Amino acid sequence: MTSDTVTIRPDGIKLYQSKDFEPMHRAGRLAATALDMLVPHVQPGVTTEFLDDLVLDFALAHDATPAPLNYRGFPKSICTSINHVVCHGIPGPKPLKNGDVVNIDVTLVVDGWHGDTSRMFCVGDISRRAERLIAVTHECLELGMAAVKPGVKTGAIGAAIQAHAEAQRCSVVKDFCGHGLGRAFHERPNILHYGTQEEGVLIEEGMFFTIEPMINLGKPSVKVLADGWTAVTRDRQLSAQFEHTIGVTTDGIEVFTRSPAGMECPPYRLKAA
Ligand code: MF3
Ligand code: CO
Ligand code: CO
Repeated sequence: MTSDTVTIRPDGIKLYQSKDFEPMHRAGRLAATALDMLVPHVQPGVTTEFLDDLVLDFALAHDATPAPLNYRGFPKSICTSINHVVCHGIPGPKPLKNGDVVNIDVTLVVDGWHGDTSRMFCVGDISRRAERLIAVTHECLELGMAAVKPGVKTGAIGAAIQAHAEAQRCSVVKDFCGHGLGRAFHERPNILHYGTQEEGVLIEEGMFFTIEPMINLGKPSVKVLADGWTAVTRDRQLSAQFEHTIGVTTDGIEVFTRSPAGMECPPYRLKAA
């Protein structure tokens, strides 16, 4: 068999081999390291265009390429989604200001494999409401990941996320979803962040996909701005998102995009050495 052997299910979902976990760990780790690298730079007065440049330089210095650049016409290397921007914000010349919360989404391609991850960053001092939304959204991602194991359906992920978000009086964005990935940026299946355990497709060992819940303080509805990318909440209330890339194992998952520096979610409680 060639080194590119993958099983493709009748529904088109790829099941990767155990040897494919190692290159996914390398791609995922590099993407997570790029986010770690950004932490000290996310400050009032800094432009998202500058953060974009930092990630492009970081990628090139590590023989990686940013997957978003020129993807379906996307003009930049990362997505920067500030406050009421839900996702796919385009880096630009406007400086960050005290109190902003920003999702930074990095996807790096390393030796042809994709690592896709995003986190929330706080600019200076943020509101209690923003702090709470960020904590709830991060919990949603962790609960979604904890629901993944062979034999359950992808709906278990959405059910876990929706239950937690709504118990915390937040809402789940329905217009965007997680996705399979590997040698391609976006593959089957779609991973919905809402629904029931009976919905979706059967999870099997060797599946690689992202979970990337977008959670709102207000109503779930979004619209895309005239630039064709920037998705915002219609009620202009805050939205937050976290994303990891995972691989399904015999009895659970491996997370490819854990923060090597332990900076998964602000406020950072770094372990003492
Ligand atoms: N990284 C995003 C995701 O999680 C996709 C960004 S596509 C882009 O799937 F073109 F907007 F960059
Ligand atoms: Co993604
Ligand atoms: Co992403």
